[in-house]
Amino acid sequence: MNKRILITGASGQLGRSIIEELQPHFNILSTDLIITDHTLSACPVVEMDIGNKAAVQQVVRKYEPDVLIHLAALTNVDGCERDKEEAWNVNVRGTEHLLDAIGGSDARIVFVSTDYVFDGVNGPYAEDAVPSPINYYGKTKLAAENEVRGGRNSWVILRTNVLYGAGKSSASFVRWVTESLKMGNQISVVDDQYANPTWTGALAEAIKLLIVLNSEGLFHYGGSDFISRHQFALKIAEIYNLDKSLIKKITTEELDQLAKRPMQSGLTTDKIEDTVGIRTYGIDYCLRKVKEGVVA
Ligand SMILES: NC(=O)c1ccc[n+]([C@@H]2O[C@H](COP(=O)([O-])OP(=O)(O)OC[C@H]3O[C@@H](n4cnc5c(N)ncnc54)[C@H](OP(=O)(O)O)[C@@H]3O)[C@@H](O)[C@H]2O)c1
Repeated sequence: MNKRILITGASGQLGRSIIEELQPHFNILSTDLIITDHTLSACPVVEMDIGNKAAVQQVVRKYEPDVLIHLAALTNVDGCERDKEEAWNVNVRGTEHLLDAIGGSDARIVFVSTDYVFDGVNGPYAEDAVPSPINYYGKTKLAAENEVRGGRNSWVILRTNVLYGAGKSSASFVRWVTESLKMGNQISVVDDQYANPTWTGALAEAIKLLIVLNSEGLFHYGGSDFISRHQFALKIAEIYNLDKSLIKKITTEELDQLAKRPMQSGLTTDKIEDTVGIRTYGIDYCLRKVKEGVVA
């Protein structure tokens, strides 16, 4: 199987798991805004700012991918609220640049999106639920989805939620919880935001199968347990044998984040399980894999 796969945002939390999962099966070109970590170097790596149309055209047209896995995004939800122009430039314009660059070729695009396209009033959400984002990050991801749907190339939009993995990303919730508790620091975690957290290793496996099976269309993927962030933190403490009493409940209102958050969110996975045969995993199993350092 000699498919050529170009990944954007490859050094992020999800990108690392995808490289680990796909590396044995495909020719990969990893790209990211800035590459600092040489663990990515098992495959060719190129710096590419998706906000720069000319750079995108040059890199993508030179590599001629069969599949473009598009992960690059500004993922800091409050950051997107603070700097809307930058969020739009990267998340929406960047996606347009990539679509322009593959337009006219047979390349397929796999775009990873988010449950934040929904308002979180009555989740978990199926693929036919009507999006209604309540923060700017969600708006940009929905606009990018629409660009992908309207493009000339065949596409998969894969929505997921609350990613966690073995990587050292500063955005890693598992890392924040374990490091705080190991240092004996008390942490406050919201108990009113619900979702089905998703191990990046399981998501990478799902993406591999969608590529191998030439699947097309909109899919939701997440873990099989629907829990609050507070319950998630308690579960992490349990699996890592850390002191649960350091984890305090807090409400979203008390946390006073800049961007609104969907409260009853999460994604149902019946479509991807029933029509593509992709399985989902429980939180205990996934957290044990993360603890063992299994990336994918
Ligand atoms: N994390 C979640 O819980 C979650 C949930 C649902 C969906 N998603 C989606 O899943 C995808 C991957 O998420 P993730 O958690 O792996 O995110 P991440 O760790 O923040 O990785 C995103 C990567 O994109 C890069 N990037 C930012 N601006 C760029 C630009 N202009 N050009 C090229 N690369 C750029 C980032 O580089 P810097 O680090 O240097 O900025 C980072 O390496 C994203 O599309 C996100 O929207 C994530």
